[in-house]
Amino acid sequence: MIVTSASETGPVPLIELRGVTKVYGRGSAAMPALRGVDMTINEGEFVAVMGPSGSGKSTVMNIIGCLDTPTEGKYLFRNAPVGAMNRNQRAMLRRQHLGFVFQGFNLLNRTSALENVELPLIYRGIRAAERHNLARKALTSVGLSGWEHHTPGELSGGQQQRVAIARAIVSQPAVLLADEPTGNLDTARSLEIMELLSSFNKELGVTIIMVTHEADMARFARRVIQFRDGLIAADERHGEEG
Ligand SMILES: Nc1ncnc2c1ncn2[C@@H]1O[C@H](COP(=O)(O)OP(=O)(O)OP(=O)(O)O)[C@@H](O)[C@H]1O
Ligand SMILES: [Mg+2]
Repeated sequence: MIVTSASETGPVPLIELRGVTKVYGRGSAAMPALRGVDMTINEGEFVAVMGPSGSGKSTVMNIIGCLDTPTEGKYLFRNAPVGAMNRNQRAMLRRQHLGFVFQGFNLLNRTSALENVELPLIYRGIRAAERHNLARKALTSVGLSGWEHHTPGELSGGQQQRVAIARAIVSQPAVLLADEPTGNLDTARSLEIMELLSSFNKELGVTIIMVTHEADMARFARRVIQFRDGLIAADERHGEEG
């Protein structure tokens, strides 16, 4: 049996952006949000994306997440050109390989934690019994065993974000995209969420790309990419956090 890992074979590119631009609006109202971004994210990385408001962080996350398309340039996911995919193929890529966590949690309010976590599995056509089983395991992995039947309104902000993380990882995505996941939480709760993301990165090998405004949260990442005016202004790797 041949066993390979990233450490033996060197970095394996997961996401590549080449000359990616995004212009919103047209004519005199044209607003360039990205002005030619080149970026490679390797399998297993934990990347923090930082930069001033309006610098293009969410725009680049939406493009990586197949929620939006570039105006120009190339996006490769595991060497496959995403620009050549049709709408259905992009939706498949999103469902099978990408998990999302947002600042506002984005949970269904009248629906239990368990059902919220099951949602991506319904889209993937997984049977009810297996769905329940996988969703329970995901909730346990974020420390919410026993809270399965509570609705978001019955949970604290930190717990709601844990449900959102369980929902994002339940389908075992290659990448977790998190846009200011701790933006609505106090420092103690934010640090707990970061510990959780860190453990998924280390133990499950999930690649994480996370937008944050806070240096305290970015410290958990091993690479920090700084955006400025729609371009990458700095890209630094460091060793273990701390
Ligand atoms: N749907 C849209 N239509 C028009 N302009 C947009 C749209 N989305 C973003 N923009 C513009 O593109 C630029 C980049 O926005 P983006 O949301 O990517 O910034 P950001 O770095 O995420 O900022 P923040 O830190 O405030 O979240 C901004 O000037 C913004 O106004
Ligand atoms: Mg943003």
